[in-house]
Amino acid sequence: MRDSYARKIDYLRISITDRCNLRCRYCMPEEGVASVGHGAVLSYEELYRVARIAVERGVRKIRLTGGEPLVRKGVVDFIASLVALPEKPELTLTTNGVLLSDYAEPLRQAGLARINVSLDSLQAERFKQITRRDQLQSVLDGLRAAEAAGLAPIKINMVPIRGVNEDEIAAFARLSYKHNWEVRFIEFMPVSSGLDYTDRQLYPAVQIKQDLEQVAPLVPEQRQGILGPARIYRLQGAVGTVGIIHAVSSHFCRECNRLRLTADGQLRPCLLSDHEIDLRSVLRSGADDEKVANVLLRSVAEKPERHCLGQDYQPGERRMQGIGG
Ligand code: GTP
Ligand code: 5AD
Ligand code: SF4
Repeated sequence: MRDSYARKIDYLRISITDRCNLRCRYCMPEEGVASVGHGAVLSYEELYRVARIAVERGVRKIRLTGGEPLVRKGVVDFIASLVALPEKPELTLTTNGVLLSDYAEPLRQAGLARINVSLDSLQAERFKQITRRDQLQSVLDGLRAAEAAGLAPIKINMVPIRGVNEDEIAAFARLSYKHNWEVRFIEFMPVSSGLDYTDRQLYPAVQIKQDLEQVAPLVPEQRQGILGPARIYRLQGAVGTVGIIHAVSSHFCRECNRLRLTADGQLRPCLLSDHEIDLRSVLRSGADDEKVANVLLRSVAEKPERHCLGQDYQPGERRMQGIGG
């Protein structure tokens, strides 16, 4: 699938639930957000059908996101069904890691290729402050289990926020000396209003890079496979790598290869634009595969050239937890 700017769209991010077992302050208010109704969430059968049609049209990589994808029952069997598609898409998952110690082995057996784990602090008290849940140890246990299960390479997503956790950038980077992980630092994006952090707390990528250079000289890495949003480096002498995701400052829209599906069945051509195309009602109207494919193609065609952060961007209706990052 090609969009109007000749970008090849071969990566589908499917949010399988908007529910989550943490309450990260940059994502959700304390009380959580009203989950979309049970009936509005696409069933696994519906999700499978969309994935199958997308893969038949050239999607090569599927990432399951949330909310927290591991809180939805049946996720392991769902993954196994996607892995069994004849086109063999690469299957990955982004998780907060809380349930990973139980899930790592079954996920591996289901055929999941690898995982990305969101983790914003290595300090128990601070983790609790940021996520409003006392679960750091579960995440660390989960990482160990994922490593033991061979879900490699593990990518860690850390969002440095000024005045909150930016002083941990070096500690996170040093994890790459000990583990063959890709430790990625994501620029904080003002995706939704009314949360505890504001864009004044943005910790820019240039600053992140300077902090990393304080730890050790940074050696740029060649990127492989399907391009991701991160610029990758290796701290001299490390087994793993570090990455910087310039989500705000130097957008990677020119290389963007992704399409998103929200848990309630809306196709979202861009993370940072609220434009959505209603796939759910098409799926539920008895449409044949050709019709569903046409809706996928239409949303690809409607992908904007770039996001407008820093210009007239207004945080949209949907929170990160409803989009899946
Ligand atoms: P890999 O293929 O493993 O590199 O995965 P990924 O980086 O695509 O997935 P992940 O869920 O780990 O996403 C990392 C972060 O990159 C997301 O949380 C976002 O913060 C950011 N990101 C991903 N896609 C986009 C995008 O289309 N636009 C912007 N601005 N940021 C994005
Ligand atoms: N800015 C940047 N990254 C964010 N994430 C969630 N909210 C934001 C935000 N406002 C990240 C999470 C997770 C990924 C899917 O998105 O840390 O790793
Ligand atoms: Fe949950 Fe992720 Fe939002 Fe944190 S950022 S509350 S882990 S969905």
